[in-house]
Amino acid sequence: MLKRTHMCGTLRSEDQGREVVVCGWVNTYRDHSSGLVFIDLRDREGLVQVVFDADDSEASAMEVGRALRREDVVAISGTVRARAGGANPKLATGEIEVLARSVELLAKTEPPPILPDDHEADRISEENRLKHRYIDLRRPRMQSILRTRSQVTKLARDYFMDHGFLEIETPLLIKTTPEGARDFIVPARLHPGMWYALPQSPQLFKQILMVAGCDRYIQICKCLRDEDPRADRQAEFTQIDLEMSFVDRDDVIEMMSGFARRLWKELLDVEIGEIPTMTYAEAMERYGIDRPDTRYGLELQDISELCGRTDFRVFKDALAGEHGCVKAIRVPGAAERFSRKVTDGYTEFVRDFGAGGAPTTKLTANGFETGVAKFLEPIADELIAELGLEVGDAVVFASDTRTIATRALGELRQKIAQDLDLIPEGCWNFVWVIDFPMFERDEEKGRWVALHHPFTSPNPDQFDILESDPGGCLSAGYDLVLNGSEIGGGSIRIHDQSVQETVFKLLGLTQADAEMKFGFLLSALRHGAPPHGGIAFGLDRLVMHLVGTDNIRDVIAFPKTQSGGDLMTDAPGPVDEEQLVETHVRSTAEPPA
Ligand code: AMO
Repeated sequence: MLKRTHMCGTLRSEDQGREVVVCGWVNTYRDHSSGLVFIDLRDREGLVQVVFDADDSEASAMEVGRALRREDVVAISGTVRARAGGANPKLATGEIEVLARSVELLAKTEPPPILPDDHEADRISEENRLKHRYIDLRRPRMQSILRTRSQVTKLARDYFMDHGFLEIETPLLIKTTPEGARDFIVPARLHPGMWYALPQSPQLFKQILMVAGCDRYIQICKCLRDEDPRADRQAEFTQIDLEMSFVDRDDVIEMMSGFARRLWKELLDVEIGEIPTMTYAEAMERYGIDRPDTRYGLELQDISELCGRTDFRVFKDALAGEHGCVKAIRVPGAAERFSRKVTDGYTEFVRDFGAGGAPTTKLTANGFETGVAKFLEPIADELIAELGLEVGDAVVFASDTRTIATRALGELRQKIAQDLDLIPEGCWNFVWVIDFPMFERDEEKGRWVALHHPFTSPNPDQFDILESDPGGCLSAGYDLVLNGSEIGGGSIRIHDQSVQETVFKLLGLTQADAEMKFGFLLSALRHGAPPHGGIAFGLDRLVMHLVGTDNIRDVIAFPKTQSGGDLMTDAPGPVDEEQLVETHVRSTAEPPA
C-alpha cells in the first residue's frame, strides 16, 4: 500500500514540486473526456484537488481514476504543482493541485445513502444522518466540531494540571447518586436481586477523594441520567468535573472564571474579562429565571401596588391571594408586532407554566389601546412612568402568586426576545449566579427539596438559620450561566457530619434512610474531612456555545435521539433470555415486534 506522506488539507504552495502520497475519500469527481480527470480528495484536514492526466499519469492510474466515484477511498502518489486552471481562493489548498502518478483503490464504496456535504446537511433528515453517522461525521463541519471538543478537553487537562489538579477516575457501577434524576440501573449477576446504578455524576466520590487527601481532583467524565433528552440535554453527557480542598466559594469561582477566559481566548480569540455575579434573588426578580440571559433587556418589573388600584378582576384576584403579585415587561416598539394572534399565543404559552394568561396592551399617542387598556386608565400616567413606556411600546403582564407570575413571565420574556429577534449576535454574556436558597418547598410532598444537591453547604453566615428558617437559608451554591444557558454548577460542600445529618433530616430522610443511602459519606465526614467545594461544567454545552449550535446532538459523536435511541446501533435492543436468567431479571414487557 502507498504510504501516506501528507494530509490532503495541509498542502500549500510551498509544497510545489514535492512528491507526495495523499489518502482519503473522493469528495467529487469530474471526468473531462479530453483526457483529464479531476477529483477533490478529502481527509480530516480538508480537500485537495488531484488531476489524472492521460499524458502524465500511469495508464493504470488513469483507468482507476476514471472509475472513481464519490466516497471511494484511495491513496494517490503524485507531484504537487501550481493549479493549472488558476487558483481557487475558496480552498485552503486552492493554489496547488496534485498531479497523480499512481493510485491505489483502497475501498470501493456502495452507493452512499447520504453525502458528507455541509451544504446538503440541512436537506437530509437528522434521522438519516444519525443512522449513517460514519458518513455524517466526515462532513467538514462535524470534523471541526469534534476537533473543538478535543481542544476543550486538552485545554481543560492543561489548565487544571497547571493548577495542581490530579485526574482521577471514579467508578461507573455504583450505588446511587443524588442528583435528583432517575438512575439507569444494571443488574448485579453476582448478587441476585441487587442492582448497580450508573453515576448521574461522580459527586460523592469526588468529595471522598478530598477526605482522602487528594486535594484537587479533575475528571472528564460521563454522567448518566435517565431523563428525557432536550435540545441541550442528553441522558448520557459529559462533565468537566472537579473538586478542591481548603477553598471557599470565591476560590472556585475564580478558578473556573480563569478556565472560561482561557477557553474563549484560545479557541475564539475573545477576551471575556471579569465575569459578574448576580444573586439568585436578583436573577428571579429581574429575569424571572435562575439562568438569566442578560444579552437583552425586557426585564420584569413588579407593579403589584399600582395594579391593586385597577378594577381588573384578574389582577385583583391574584393580589387578594397569598403571595399575590403582578409583574410586567415593557417591550419597546413592539406595538405593531403584538397582533391578536400573537398575544393569544402568549396566553397559551404561559399556561404551560401555571399562569392563567398573559394580558397585554399597547401605548399609542392616544394612551393605552387594546387588551387590558380600559382597566389601566386610573393608573395610566404612573404606569407609563414606572415602566418607562414610550408611544409604540407594548406591555405584557402576568398576575398570580409571585412564584408563578415570575416564572411564567420569565419564560415568556425569552420567547418574546426570540420571536421579535431581539437577541444580539456575537455576545458572550457570562454571569455567576450565587446565593441560591438551600431548599425549595415541595407542596405536594409537604417537605423541603434541595435546590442544588443535599451536600451543598449553607453560606458561612447562614448556619444559624438552617434549622429555624430553612426556607430563608441561602446556600453556598453557584451556577455559571452563559447567554441564558447553565454551563456549570457546583457548591461548597458540607464537611461536618452533624450539619449533613441536619440537612438530610430537613429533606425528610430518616436517620436509617440516610445511613442506608449515604452511610459511607457520613462515615467519611466523621474521619477528618477538609472544607471542600467543587463544580462541574457541562462539556457538551460548552462546546455548543463555542461552535455555535443549539442542538446538543451536533457536539456528540454518537448521540441519542429525542426518544433515547441510537439509530446507528439500534440501541436499546432486546437481550437473550439467557442473559436475563444469568442476571436474575424477569422482564414484564415484551420487546416491540
Ligand atoms: P449539575 O447537575 O448542575 O451538577 O450538572 C453540572 C452541569 O452539567 C451540565 N448538565 C447537562 N448537560 C447535558 N445534558 C444533561 N442532561 C445535563 N445535566 C447537567 C450542565 C450543568 O450545569 N455534581 C454536580 C456538580 C457539583 O456540585 O460539583 C452536578 O452534576 O451544564
